[in-house]
Amino acid sequence: MKDHAPRTSDRTVRLEEYTPFPWIVGDVSLTFRLHPTATRVLSRITFANDPAAPSGPFFLHGEKLNLIEARIDGVPVSPDITAEGLTCDVPDTPFVFEAEVEIDPSGNTALDGLYMSGGMYCTQCEAEGFRKITFYPDRPDVMAPFNVRIEGPEDKPLPVMLSNGNPGAQEGNSAEWHDPWPKPSYLFALVAGDLVAKSGTFTTASGMPVALNVYVRPGDEDRCDYALDALIRSMRWDEREYGREYDLSVFSIVAVDDFNMGAMENKGLNIFNSKYVLASPDTATDVDFEMIEGIVAHEYFHNWTGNRVTCRDWFQLCLKEGLTVFRDQQFSGDMRSEPVKRIDDVLALRARQFREDNGPLAHPVRPESYIEINNFYTATVYEKGAEVIGMLRRLVGAEAYRAALDLYFERHDGQACTIEDWLAVFEDATGRDLSQFKLWYSQAGTPRVEVSEDWDEEAGRLALTFRQHTPPTPGQPDKAPLVIPVALGLLDAAGHEIMATEVVELTEAEQTVEIGLGTGGADLEAKASRVPGRPVPSILRGFSAPVILQRQTSAEERAFLLAHDTDPFNKWEAGRALARDVLVRMVTDGAEPGQQYLSALQMVAKDDTLDPAFRALALSLPSQDDLAQAIHDGGATPDPTAIWAALRRLAEEIGGTLEPVLSELYDEMRVPGPYTPDAQSAGSRALRGAALAYLSRVDGGSRAAAQFAEAGNMTERLGALGALLRIGKGEEELAAFRRRWEGDRLVMDKWFALQAASASPAEAHDVAQRLTGDPAFDWTNPNRFRSVIGALAGNPAAFHEPEGRIYRLVTDWLIRLDPLNPQTAARLTTSFETWKRFDADRQGMIRENLERLSAVEGLSRDTSEMVGRILA
Ligand code: PHE
Ligand code: ZN
Repeated sequence: MKDHAPRTSDRTVRLEEYTPFPWIVGDVSLTFRLHPTATRVLSRITFANDPAAPSGPFFLHGEKLNLIEARIDGVPVSPDITAEGLTCDVPDTPFVFEAEVEIDPSGNTALDGLYMSGGMYCTQCEAEGFRKITFYPDRPDVMAPFNVRIEGPEDKPLPVMLSNGNPGAQEGNSAEWHDPWPKPSYLFALVAGDLVAKSGTFTTASGMPVALNVYVRPGDEDRCDYALDALIRSMRWDEREYGREYDLSVFSIVAVDDFNMGAMENKGLNIFNSKYVLASPDTATDVDFEMIEGIVAHEYFHNWTGNRVTCRDWFQLCLKEGLTVFRDQQFSGDMRSEPVKRIDDVLALRARQFREDNGPLAHPVRPESYIEINNFYTATVYEKGAEVIGMLRRLVGAEAYRAALDLYFERHDGQACTIEDWLAVFEDATGRDLSQFKLWYSQAGTPRVEVSEDWDEEAGRLALTFRQHTPPTPGQPDKAPLVIPVALGLLDAAGHEIMATEVVELTEAEQTVEIGLGTGGADLEAKASRVPGRPVPSILRGFSAPVILQRQTSAEERAFLLAHDTDPFNKWEAGRALARDVLVRMVTDGAEPGQQYLSALQMVAKDDTLDPAFRALALSLPSQDDLAQAIHDGGATPDPTAIWAALRRLAEEIGGTLEPVLSELYDEMRVPGPYTPDAQSAGSRALRGAALAYLSRVDGGSRAAAQFAEAGNMTERLGALGALLRIGKGEEELAAFRRRWEGDRLVMDKWFALQAASASPAEAHDVAQRLTGDPAFDWTNPNRFRSVIGALAGNPAAFHEPEGRIYRLVTDWLIRLDPLNPQTAARLTTSFETWKRFDADRQGMIRENLERLSAVEGLSRDTSEMVGRILA
């Protein structure tokens, strides 16, 4: 089977079947005659036989295109057309292929290809959307320079018409764009409409001026400053940290309201979900500002990691995504607090990727087969892909990492690459053999690392024995040992650090590391303990590998590490483990919270040597989903309602016991003056918000109601409203909020999402009915759909309410959305991925709904692949 062969709708694509495209594309010229329902696309593409590639039929992808005319070297031809594309006889010598097609942007509800959003034309081509625009070899290893001409509708000129690259002639009702950098079709973009720009300039390290624009709909121009500022900081950072300069005279970001994903790195013309561009203190929260900074950076960083060096095929997606996520995480860590950013990233990794890795959708960072590639833009490819790069950097060191990256850009600029190319660069730059490390790309599942300790008081030696194993995942019953970097430190019994962080490399299923206390001859040496007694190891500092560490320790030792560990991640982790153990015992044995945890928490809350953002994280409790996973791992069946009740009970206990400390914090952490989104102010607001949430459990909501009434920014307004909703209050505030923000799509998304996310098991059904019946529930908009259906499905207490009504409601809505927007529908089926953890009743109800979904006639390839894998 060849990749260029037509694909039937249920065809599985396999990595091992890769073959190159038999032609080289020299040049691409496109003319767009825009019309809402009948846009004409004229293409002129030069092809020449690729002597290095095996020959094959001339096949161009094309879907939902109405072919008006095709010509080869100027002579009309009649190609064979199927639902997947076109085949046609072509000369042996170089030739020019021309086509004119008609497409319907208004009718494109899938938001893939050329579509309309709020009256403007825009495109989304990754992964396979370009084939809905014209006939083309729509695969990432075909790279070519593009020339684009856009002609506006005759009756309604469009003020802004954009495509990739540098601007050419812009006259009257037309605009030309030339992108000199060879690129794959998935990076093509076109935007046209009534837009306004917030502009700036950037001068590259070598003195090239770049015009920067953030394009938005009129009225939104005062919400672009932060995105523009984040862009400038990203450009500077990539020059400084990676030596990467920008390479065109213009860089633009466009905000669109209807978008399936977060944002897209089209060459020189990034297109964003407006949620990740528009921000003002009044409409966006601290978390929104932080997300905008990270995503603007992510898309910008793709200019080198993704665009200049791209992927050979979609199996290599982690080559650009893992690396670019790693880079944006480094950037945000630099801009804000590095340890806090690390904890946030690990929280997200565990919540999304560990969950994926431990269920029916588990797949390797580099998958080996897919039915629909859109289903593989996953936490595993992105977040675990980034962790793998972090491990690589930890193993080779920062300097060698930078040298390897320099070599990567030098060797592969302008190429479409593989993970093999990526690893070869590291092997060549460092002399290391990475063959075992490579397993991280092919082996799915989260490794478990069990540690046991043996302390020899007389010899002054601590032996740590590590046993690693990875549980089976679909299609991979047996797993081999991986290379696991474990960062270790050692504290003495009085809490002084006696060995600073060292990285040991696990490569075997079982391995012992000896640490000598000034005795010599051990694998690692610590300074002689200053106080007698068993030292305490701090293991997996900074979360040095994406594994589950299994270690039998006492609550005393956890409290000790929470108090003394010098590694901020492990300090936080110790507190998190304490909380988790307390909650698991509350759920499974009906235990009481216990004083030990509460005093440990109080100590952290009060410790003003600690960053407020860190303290806010230390005060937050494990999520419902974390606890379900922990209970399941412990061999029991999690009861979502009991988990929800235990969390509420613990929050009340914390609010009651810590009231004096929390109320002091609440006053102390007030940030004076006008709102600024900087990390420090955001950290204070986060700690104050955490205090408010606990206090509201015991003060009847008085503080929250007052804060809501006085709030001068969205962070405090929404924080107060959430605190009220979680104690069953806030009805009036909800109504006031709605009246104030009715006309604002992004803020109304928050209004919906907050209610869906805080509904209790008993309220869930009513809340769901009310929100889905609301006239403002515009379910064809992906953000709005996610803010109601996604938020309900992401609230375990609501989703798993015992009667199964939310399972049914979510399924009904997926059935409704699928024919319009298969990508977004398919993505939301992951709400069901943990179904096998739960009791027989819930499993039965979920199975029934999944089977009902899977039986829908004409169900999309996207959704049927997902449901099939979840049910398998
Ligand atoms: N490539 C985009 C990113 O990571 C994500 C994306 C994928 C957007 C597919 C749209 C469609 O930044
Ligand atoms: Zn990306």
